[in-house]
Amino acid sequence: MHLKITTLTLLIIALAGCYYDNEEDLFVPVAVGGNTCDSVAVTYTTSIAPIMTNYCTRCHRTGRTDGGVNIAGYAQLSVYVNSGQLLGAIRHDRGFSPMPSSGTRIPACDLQKITTWIAAGAPNN
Ligand code: HEC
Repeated sequence: MHLKITTLTLLIIALAGCYYDNEEDLFVPVAVGGNTCDSVAVTYTTSIAPIMTNYCTRCHRTGRTDGGVNIAGYAQLSVYVNSGQLLGAIRHDRGFSPMPSSGTRIPACDLQKITTWIAAGAPNN
């Protein structure tokens, strides 16, 4: 009887140890502002233009048009929305130059915002 209790105790300690380890593995730091991505309430002015400013227009604006591309401002960006080049480039689709040209895709949330905006007809809002 005594032996059985000891075995059980050891088993519980072992399991508790595993549980503790797992809990540590599962800990994921939460980004400042939370890990939320609002890709529903999307407008050109509040969502799309800032994304372009963040990742794109330093190379694609009036005064610097890498690849002959200027996407600063709604009218200029619309040209590449309508041709499919904007989505192709940022999704890194085959047949398009992957953008930004550094090689890393823009964050998934920003990609989703652009996809949502284009699916809604890419309004100038
Ligand atoms: C460091 C400069 C740089 C940045 C930042 C950059 N691009 Fe480009 N982009 C280029 C160059 C250079 C080309 C032309 C050469 C090529 O196609 O690779 C180009 C080409 C393009 C094209 C034409 C692609 C095609 O296949 O026809 C599009 C559209 C484009 N960029 C959009 C973007 C978007 C959107 C972003 C931001 C997510 C971005 N670029 C960020 C330098 C840049």
